[in-house]
Amino acid sequence: MNLSPTEQALVQAARAARAHAYAPYSGYAVGAAVLTDDGRVFAGCNVENASYGLSLCAERVAVFSAIAAGARRLVAAAVCTPDGGTPCGACRQVLLEFADAPESFAVWGVSPDRVIARYTLADLIPHGFRLAPEGG
Ligand code: THU
Repeated sequence: MNLSPTEQALVQAARAARAHAYAPYSGYAVGAAVLTDDGRVFAGCNVENASYGLSLCAERVAVFSAIAAGARRLVAAAVCTPDGGTPCGACRQVLLEFADAPESFAVWGVSPDRVIARYTLADLIPHGFRLAPEGG
């Protein structure tokens, strides 16, 4: 697959973040990165907890980090797992919240040494939740 320099940087950020994963319970390390509409990249890793349900996925750590830095619109994401796994349902919904155009929002599924697949967010979450407009 041909990646632009920006896409390569996004993939590399996800791979680098995976090195910081805290996953002593599952042993499944994940790194993620999101690209903002003004070209910034924010990364995250999964952070597990002894109270398992409190664990947070890498994608949400990356998204919340971007939002906390003032970003509001995201245009692409990359997720690095051992096997090219795709974002879980909760993370798809969180990505959708900040995606203007899910049809063109690329989600790169990568492993440490391979780009495995390119999805769009619309492929991954075709009927995501949106609040109904007033009176709708
Ligand atoms: N995980 C992620 O970080 N992202 C995903 O999209 C799926 C799963 C994490 C959660 C948990 O720490 C570990 O991977 C195994 O489920």
